[in-house]
Amino acid sequence: MTEQGKINREGATPASLFERADAAFGLGPVRAVPKLPPVPEALRRTSAPQSPAQPPVEVAPVVAAPQPQPQAQVQPQAAPQPSEPAPQQPQQQTAVALQQPAAVAFCGPFAAIDRDHLRDGGLIVPEDPVTGLLEEFRIVKRELLADARASDTPLARRILVCSPHPGEGKTYCATNLAIALAAERGLEVLLVDADVVKPSVAQRLGIDVEQGLMDALADPAILPESLVIQTDIDGLFVLPAGTATSLDAEYLASARTGEVLDRLTMGAPNRILIFDTPPALAASPAAELAAHVGQALLVVRADETSRAALEDAQQLLSACGDIKLLLNAARYSPSGRRFGTYGPKGK
Ligand SMILES: Nc1ncnc2c1ncn2[C@@H]1O[C@H](COP(=O)(O)OP(=O)(O)O)[C@@H](O)[C@H]1O
Ligand SMILES: [Mg+2]
Repeated sequence: MTEQGKINREGATPASLFERADAAFGLGPVRAVPKLPPVPEALRRTSAPQSPAQPPVEVAPVVAAPQPQPQAQVQPQAAPQPSEPAPQQPQQQTAVALQQPAAVAFCGPFAAIDRDHLRDGGLIVPEDPVTGLLEEFRIVKRELLADARASDTPLARRILVCSPHPGEGKTYCATNLAIALAAERGLEVLLVDADVVKPSVAQRLGIDVEQGLMDALADPAILPESLVIQTDIDGLFVLPAGTATSLDAEYLASARTGEVLDRLTMGAPNRILIFDTPPALAASPAAELAAHVGQALLVVRADETSRAALEDAQQLLSACGDIKLLLNAARYSPSGRRFGTYGPKGK
């Protein structure tokens, strides 16, 4: 299915950290972030990979393939046009700031996050001593933040976390990244569960949720900020996936998606949106959302993700002009998807 020729290998713009990771993994001109530490041998997956016929990723040069006019390519019909404020010119900052709409305040229900639940799930616990895991995600967030702040478009503050297949660590990385980012002083981080098929962000954080993204997309009368859960982790907010329907794909492809996301980000330069998504090769949301974000983090498992799958996923995400690779070295037990399994054994 994948042809190498489909991917534009020109136009990658490596950053320093990514270049170092590329060199370590022989990725060539890919933008990649360092691999995450693997889980212990006892938790390692024993069954064959999902696509045994495909060779493990050798992670040969795969290019981010930024496309200059992303939205027209992925959603020619919906063609959501972010209506966020125009980029500020340095000499006009004061005047433009006065014209900017005020940011909407997140005003959904409050949820306390059980730190033991985070710990048992192998997630970053804000108050705990610094761990290797936190250090890894600090490096990742620095790269993402640097690009978000360097860009003159608010789109760069929306970051999609995706991967070709299930179980490659999208939710794990999106959640840890959101927690790590929330520790930044003055930053508001909204973790959006866009995996409407198998939502798991709320479960992973141990919070009960009802309505969310899909409800706001389906009903224009619903203010999305009223569904954003405020947490007791300073700076961390969560927009659950919400109520699934048979029209989810159509809702995500509609112009309403752009409106909702604009509303959540407008006038808030210190707000970052992280989207957890379903597998790019299994469902359409990641490709749809790629047109609404400025950065995409493509999670790959260095031991299992095939190059063909990686290239297919890249192509599906090509509406996003900045795709970065995150090499997740973690392996998991198929029977250990419950978070408790990653408790004491996982440390
Ligand atoms: N780097 C890692 N270290 C420890 N556990 C991980 C890591 N990456 C993924 N996992 C675990 O692997 C399982 C699958 O990850 P998940 O994030 O749910 O995958 P996806 O969202 O891509 O389907 C989860 O139980 C998760 O906690
Ligand atoms: Mg997931």
